[in-house]
Amino acid sequence: MLEAIAAIREAALARVAAATTSEELATLRVQYLGKKGELTQVLRGMGKLPPEERPRVGQLANQVREELERALREAGEKLSRQEQERRLRAEALDVTLPGRPVTTGHRHPLYQVLNEIKAVFIGLGFDVAEGPEVESDYYNFEALNLPKDHPARDMQDSFYITEDVLLRTHTSPVQARVMEARRPQVPIRIIAPGKVYRRDDDATHSPLFHQVEGLLVDRRVTFGDLKGTLMAFLQQIFGDGVRVRFRPSYFPFTEPSAEVDISCVMCGGCGCRVCSHTGWLEILGCGLVHPKVLSMSGYDPEEVSGFAFGLGVERVAMLKYGIDDLRLFYENDLRFLQQF
Ligand code: PHE
Repeated sequence: MLEAIAAIREAALARVAAATTSEELATLRVQYLGKKGELTQVLRGMGKLPPEERPRVGQLANQVREELERALREAGEKLSRQEQERRLRAEALDVTLPGRPVTTGHRHPLYQVLNEIKAVFIGLGFDVAEGPEVESDYYNFEALNLPKDHPARDMQDSFYITEDVLLRTHTSPVQARVMEARRPQVPIRIIAPGKVYRRDDDATHSPLFHQVEGLLVDRRVTFGDLKGTLMAFLQQIFGDGVRVRFRPSYFPFTEPSAEVDISCVMCGGCGCRVCSHTGWLEILGCGLVHPKVLSMSGYDPEEVSGFAFGLGVERVAMLKYGIDDLRLFYENDLRFLQQF
């Protein structure tokens, strides 16, 4: 019996010493010390021994078990240290390696300008309203005093989807939509920024472009209010030194109507190529809301009046940054976009 235990000890210690992985050690632990392990079996068999031999055999078996436990523990610690080192080496980071540069984007120049325009009008007390880009003939034309056969429809060559549905040619339909939704409340003070569509395509016209509509309806609104509002706006966008002039014009939905010019931002008004040597640049259209438009949308023109204006965002951006080709805004060329 003593010899059997010594042989088990011998073999077990040798195999523990030779083990190269934690799993092997776990298997060895089961094989020798587990419930059905070799050493455990020997201890079980002790009952069959004559009583005088039991203490010696028991002592040796316990001694060997402790020895084995220790060997397994020590080998286990050594192996898991080695395994961890191996793992770390495999995952090692070279912290001296230069990083890959992260390029951060920014807002598109058109939307930077649009946000600036919005901020000015929000500062003046206007809310931001929205309308659909796919619009009905009614809101795009009819409700703005442009009946079916009106010649002014030709100025806005349109993309029709059906006979009565088109891509909106301006943001003015939002005027009618907002008035209809809010009637008979005053005041209305809104701007409506967004995309508009016309069949036009050259260096200064794009089939898709952006406008900002403005509408104010209240009691006793005058042309003076319109002038003051637009002056304040244009000075904030183009600087205090900018000069502004109102030229009589025609829109079916405003009466009287005007087009607004600013002194040329390139030459300061002396005359250059950009302003065709006139010293002035056209910047927006505006006027007092036509009484017919007010009444079609549910307001009494005897009680309230209003002003409206519409300006092209691309045009403002081109003048602000001295860009001579509108198409640059849509080509997504980083060499252009990164300049803003
Ligand atoms: N909707 C007009 C256009 O696109 C601009 C405009 C808006 C004129 C509001 C007067 C009042 O040309």
